[in-house]
Amino acid sequence: MTDTPRQMHLFLVIGNVGQHHGAWREPDSGIELADSIDFHAEVARRAEAAKLDALFIADHLAMLGREAHAPAQHLEPVTVLSALSMCTESIGLVGSASTTFNEPFNVARQFASLDHLSRGRAGWNMVTSAFGEENFGSDPLPSHAWRYERAGEFVEVTKALWRSWDADALAVDREAGVYARPERVHPVNYRGRHLTVSGPLNIPRPPQVHPVLVQAGTSADGMAFASRHAEVVFSAHQGLAMAKRYYDQIKRGAEQVGRDPDGVKVLFGLSPVLGDTPGDAQERQRVLAGLLNADYAKQLVGFQLGGIDLADYGLDEKLPLDLLPDPAVINRRQGRFDLYRQLIEEGQTLRRLTEIEATAAGLQVAVGDVEHIAKEMVTYFEAGAADGFILIPPSQRVDGRRLLSEVIPLLQERGYARAAYQGTTLRDHLGLTRP
Ligand SMILES: Cc1cc2nc3c(=O)[nH]c(=O)nc-3n(C[C@H](O)[C@H](O)[C@H](O)COP(=O)(O)O)c2cc1C
Repeated sequence: MTDTPRQMHLFLVIGNVGQHHGAWREPDSGIELADSIDFHAEVARRAEAAKLDALFIADHLAMLGREAHAPAQHLEPVTVLSALSMCTESIGLVGSASTTFNEPFNVARQFASLDHLSRGRAGWNMVTSAFGEENFGSDPLPSHAWRYERAGEFVEVTKALWRSWDADALAVDREAGVYARPERVHPVNYRGRHLTVSGPLNIPRPPQVHPVLVQAGTSADGMAFASRHAEVVFSAHQGLAMAKRYYDQIKRGAEQVGRDPDGVKVLFGLSPVLGDTPGDAQERQRVLAGLLNADYAKQLVGFQLGGIDLADYGLDEKLPLDLLPDPAVINRRQGRFDLYRQLIEEGQTLRRLTEIEATAAGLQVAVGDVEHIAKEMVTYFEAGAADGFILIPPSQRVDGRRLLSEVIPLLQERGYARAAYQGTTLRDHLGLTRP
């Protein structure tokens, strides 16, 4: 044990010019450079200068008709993160990869490679994917339960592949001509309901053994998966009470399967809208909202509510609850559906739902000056609702910049955020043991 006070773990969402669906229209958004290494490297270097734990890139496998109103979100995460491993020294590199539309051998190779190239900075966000099935054959999207069942097998196989080379497998004996000791490289021989993989992996043991396992389940199945397998969990909730409940459930769930609850770091999703004064920040939020195409925003919310048509509803209307399908038939994002259903029950307007969806993909939005955002983070942290934050700025060039150059330094000054990296791997930054 060290006597360092408990500090926040901080991830920054990158991979596009900002999360807000209208932010690309701002003059300095950088949208023309969005697919360049320069844009990504600039954000990565700033995040590393602020000593964050990791960069995070999400992955979605379909356009969903967004091209008219919002940029295609991403380059492929592992490709970008590999390039960023050369522009950075210490910061963690975390990306999503689907357990439904990939094979474990591919994913194990990708993240083992990233872990080697970055000398132990890789993390994998395990996602079951809620859409994109049309791009992977003609079958309908498998059920939510099926996707999590396959994900459970997938992560077991992937870990086994990462461990298939023992730590002392490499002999590199030039004289004798022995590269690796065959008895130290093991097959996996996995035969499950969904997957059959022989192994071993064709890559020696990654520096972290397992790249850090990340997940963001909100449904009952998703939370059970997170508690069992994840080392970092993203929490997508509105308000302190919901965040605290989720935090406690994840930690309890981990304990129930025999894990150390401190081996699961819960990061609360927060989208900071920043201004010089509280009034400026409110104004900025209004400006951003004005950049959204209302029909498109309604489509997004309708999609998350199970594919209902909201075209005829005004933004200032409250949606009737009986418009919503039975929760039992929701097969895409159950967590998001539950969140919006709850907000409708509370009497929130359609405008509020579109803002939450389009600003921060369902994560909490915090609007204020630097001091306010820092205080908000401290409040969640001190209340035991978060071990840190997954920060998702509406715009990298505006809010992201201020976040890194003003909010984080304030938190460092007050002892809540690290002022220097102590270790070299992502596991070191997160205080996670090597498996
Ligand atoms: C910060 C954050 C990032 C996420 N990134 C992705 C992603 O890259 N790809 C994806 O398909 N889902 C992503 N998700 C969705 C989750 O994986 C998960 O499906 C969602 O939270 C709903 O939970 P459920 O599957 O338990 O219903 C993300 C969620 C959060 C909160």
